[in-house]
Amino acid sequence: MIKVGLVGLGSMGMVHYRAYQNIENTEVVAVVELSPDMVNEKVGVDTVNIYGTITEMLEKESLDIIDICTPTYMHADMVVEALKSGAHVTCEKPMALCVEEAERVLEAAKESKRLFMVAHVVRFHASHRYFKEVVDSGELGKALHVSFHRSCQIPSDWELWRHDRKKGGGSLLDLSIHDLDFVQYVFGMPQKASCTYHKMQNENDFVESQLIYPGTIVQVTSGFYQGDIPFVSSYYAVFEKGYVECRGGIVTKNGEPVDLKVEQKKEEAKGTNLSDVSGHQLELQYFADCILQNTAPEIVTPDSAYDTMRLYKQLLDNCTEV
Ligand SMILES: NC(=O)c1ccc[n+]([C@@H]2O[C@H](COP(=O)([O-])OP(=O)(O)OC[C@H]3O[C@@H](n4cnc5c(N)ncnc54)[C@H](O)[C@@H]3O)[C@@H](O)[C@H]2O)c1
Repeated sequence: MIKVGLVGLGSMGMVHYRAYQNIENTEVVAVVELSPDMVNEKVGVDTVNIYGTITEMLEKESLDIIDICTPTYMHADMVVEALKSGAHVTCEKPMALCVEEAERVLEAAKESKRLFMVAHVVRFHASHRYFKEVVDSGELGKALHVSFHRSCQIPSDWELWRHDRKKGGGSLLDLSIHDLDFVQYVFGMPQKASCTYHKMQNENDFVESQLIYPGTIVQVTSGFYQGDIPFVSSYYAVFEKGYVECRGGIVTKNGEPVDLKVEQKKEEAKGTNLSDVSGHQLELQYFADCILQNTAPEIVTPDSAYDTMRLYKQLLDNCTEV
């Protein structure tokens, strides 16, 4: 059994906790949180050992995976400490608050000889795996224009950490990073990248980024909004021979619905089956499988996650506020 220690049981920590319950061979045995009562309330009394700090958990437990789901500004220190304990480590996106911290994480990952994977869930979503397949196979020719959009209600998080850009990085690092990471995964580092933050009222936060590749322009937009608004993640991509679109979870190619289950069967045939469970479960299952098979994760390597942080820095260096 792979023993997991989960650090941070907020909204994402709970998503990971529930995912592990559906993953064979894994068990969350320890949780680090600020309030034991809150943990007991969320997962039941006496179901996990509860610690107040990661250091205390690492001293008392012998764990296979440390899974970091704390606010972004805590990631780097916690990942480095966890890697030094000799465990395998996964960490929610983004890898760190800035590229300098990400570099520290990358160095620790390389020194540790343990597996490290940033949980960039979009790389595991069926809709986005399909997009990558269309690009890689060249079936529609070269991508000319691609736009990704993501928006949601501003989460009611612990101590409102996301409301402070110094702790969460704003919508660029918290929301756009999903799509920026995916674009970097599919297309590599751009020739040029810039972004614009639009000043909005009442803490609404909208940012647009433009990434230029030879012959391909990619636009990534994200917004955190006040109010009870639905979560949106979409893409629209124009290729030499047509277009693909993902809207409301439905993927279409040249206007025709794409059956992602059929696409999954094609993956199976190629031996790269990633199944159709939720992206969050899939990424954690994939990480656990890598540990069991003693193979380094290829879908999100430490270097590739670091490149996404380099891209973020490139955008910040060319950022305007209007
Ligand atoms: N992949 C995704 O789709 C996705 C979605 C949401 C959030 N995230 C990421 O997950 C991370 C957490 O976000 P969230 O929305 O769950 O935040 P949250 O505020 O809901 O939860 C953070 C939790 O960390 C706990 N915490 C604070 N300090 C701690 C410490 N020192 N030790 C242990 N626990 C501590 C808080 O009590 C809280 O329960 C962020 O980095 C965020 O970017 C990813």
